[in-house]
Amino acid sequence: MDGYANRKRAMLLRYTAGVLACALSVSRVAIAQQGVDQTTPAEQGRLLYETHCVICHGDSGAGNPPLFPALDANDRLADPIGIVASIRQGSGIMPPFPDLTMEDITVLANYVRNAWTNDFGTVCPAKE
Ligand code: HEC
Repeated sequence: MDGYANRKRAMLLRYTAGVLACALSVSRVAIAQQGVDQTTPAEQGRLLYETHCVICHGDSGAGNPPLFPALDANDRLADPIGIVASIRQGSGIMPPFPDLTMEDITVLANYVRNAWTNDFGTVCPAKE
């Protein structure tokens, strides 16, 4: 891919992450109003992580280096766009996850950024 295509892709992902982060906070309100599902985003994130990610990145985010990188104490998670890109597009031997919705991905990104010893903050910090 040339530089232009890369920049376009980065812009698209940035835009997507912004829209999604805010869609997430709206849907939380909707869910709370229905009184159906009081699961917090952190719990949703943990469940999604256990379903889709734990097999390679591990319970404690330690991964299994060098093949499967740790997500705990991994400075790459400072960039939310990189997380969204890994999940949507895959990366190396990490598969893409086409069945995860944008909301799922936002929840997951927020989860891994703040799980274990991580403290990178949320994508939409004002709403947490
Ligand atoms: C089949 C194993 C596998 C699964 C399942 C998997 N990953 Fe990965 N993940 C990897 C590998 C391998 C890399 C490194 C890819 C590379 O070097 O390009 C990676 C990289 C990443 C990165 C970038 C970190 C870095 O140091 O490069 C993030 C963030 C990430 N994964 C999050 C997730 C999340 C969230 C899930 C669940 C939706 C998930 N992964 C599921 C194998 C996996």
